[in-house]
Amino acid sequence: MEKTSQTIIQGPGSLSQLPNFVSGKTLIVTDPGIVAAGHVDRAAKLLENPIIYDRVRENPTESDAAACADFAREVQPDSIIGLGGGSSLDTAKATLFLLSGGGTMSDYQGHGKAKGAMIPFVAIPTTAGTGSECQSYAVLCRDDSHQKIACGDSRALAHTVILDPELTKSMPLQVARLTALDALSHALESAVCNNHTKESQKLSFEAFHKIQPVIEHVLIGDANLDQRTEMQIGAALAGQAIEASMLGAAHASANPLTAHFDITHGNAVLTMLPEVIKWNTPKVGDIYQQLHPNLINWMIHLRELAGLKEVHVPAEMIPTLAQEASQQWTGQFNPRPLTSDDFAELYLHSLTIV
Ligand SMILES: [Fe+2]
Repeated sequence: MEKTSQTIIQGPGSLSQLPNFVSGKTLIVTDPGIVAAGHVDRAAKLLENPIIYDRVRENPTESDAAACADFAREVQPDSIIGLGGGSSLDTAKATLFLLSGGGTMSDYQGHGKAKGAMIPFVAIPTTAGTGSECQSYAVLCRDDSHQKIACGDSRALAHTVILDPELTKSMPLQVARLTALDALSHALESAVCNNHTKESQKLSFEAFHKIQPVIEHVLIGDANLDQRTEMQIGAALAGQAIEASMLGAAHASANPLTAHFDITHGNAVLTMLPEVIKWNTPKVGDIYQQLHPNLINWMIHLRELAGLKEVHVPAEMIPTLAQEASQQWTGQFNPRPLTSDDFAELYLHSLTIV
């Protein structure tokens, strides 16, 4: 919920501009898949003194962040690059908090708790979805429960974002699909959340209008460079929209599905989103209407195009999921409030109960 002030460089081949934004010893925070795709090599070759940390894991935990920060303390970098998907960017951001202020990430849960000055941070996403590159929050999981914790501070916002669509080509199809759907959900949830502003809603709408014409190509797997460019910009705009407002009940109810059943974030969000739109419609239907004349059916169509399977959950887990969803921070911003019982109803309508 910060005003963003970032330099955003975009376009095919824009990675080559990286040397303009970092100098000295630069720590590249990334994962083995990005190394295998050749992107780390391409970035490192542009730098005078690159050091690579390639042990980022999906859905990084507090101890994953601590491991990267320990590495960084040894190296003493002058700047940090987050190169990869949301997990690499979250790990890089978390490292900034731990390097400048010490302690553990739990100390920074919430907003504005960072200590000390942070070294310069450049975000280079290789997926088009999370929008993490335009957000000041590091989202991590607790080691014990896998509950998400969000740690935000304006100082953790990347000072430069490089959106090079050449980098999103290496994404496996299923990753491209799930991250694109996540980005679309960000545009939709931020557009209606109860603390949206005129400005933030403008960003949500811009994001939606970038994503809408191209997402079906992304889901089918035939998106060309221009369409991937639009998708990447749309995802970043949706990230800015979240930064300026928040999310809602689809994210609140998706997180417990990921924590308990390891359902990928984009899949979990899209599983919940149609019923959340139905729930919110009495309150904000005209906003949905402005975006798409038949939003729910279109969401269901996109889910089918992406080949998403039904999510199976044992009936006895519904009360636990509902309880946890009602405690998620993002849920408080849903335009129509939900009790734990309301979340249980949402789950019953959205999941296949076994
Ligand atoms: Fe998301």
